[in-house]
Amino acid sequence: MKLKITPNNTRRDLGSEDFIVTKTDTKGRITYANRIFMDIAGLSESELLGVQHNIIRHPDMPRGVFNSLWETLKAGNEFFGFVKNLCSDGGYYWVFANITPDYDKDGKLQGYYSVRRQPPQSALDILMPVYKEMLTIESTGSKKESQENSIAYLNGKITQAGAKSYEKFVLNLYKPSGV
Ligand SMILES: Cc1cc2nc3c(=O)[nH]c(=O)nc-3n(C[C@H](O)[C@H](O)[C@H](O)COP(=O)(O)O)c2cc1C
Repeated sequence: MKLKITPNNTRRDLGSEDFIVTKTDTKGRITYANRIFMDIAGLSESELLGVQHNIIRHPDMPRGVFNSLWETLKAGNEFFGFVKNLCSDGGYYWVFANITPDYDKDGKLQGYYSVRRQPPQSALDILMPVYKEMLTIESTGSKKESQENSIAYLNGKITQAGAKSYEKFVLNLYKPSGV
């Protein structure tokens, strides 16, 4: 399910103490959402529970990012990334997201758990043109080929930045002095 709304340029920001938390089942359907998420997205619990997380997908987000998100999670690893999300009134907000697989006591995968916070503007200034170029690449040629090209472009940017992996690249942007 996707929101049938027209995106606009109203930007919202999380406070420095705000964390958005959601949980999903193994298919990415929302099973828990905290109040901060409902408030910023402008969606109620009944509108969110049981629906696919792509309900807040913003059209400015390249497919390649979500492709790497799901590949990372399916390999049993945690994902870090910057995501632009849609609000129910067409506005948007950026998050720095950490998503981890959620296992039960027997080690069986139950779903995924995500915590998001406000990204630094310095990270967004670097990422926004990269995502824009990825979107342009994804709009040309076949879906498979254009997605491969978009990921290759992102990998080129990671190498150019001197990072050894996507994860290091992203964490460096979040905390320039770290990693
Ligand atoms: C725990 C979890 C949290 C997610 N959070 C978001 C999110 O905040 N925004 C988003 O667009 N997609 C999020 N996704 C990814 C969506 O499930 C989906 O892959 C993405 O929106 C792309 O949707 P599409 O393939 O239908 O275009 C999340 C997935 C999981 C498992």
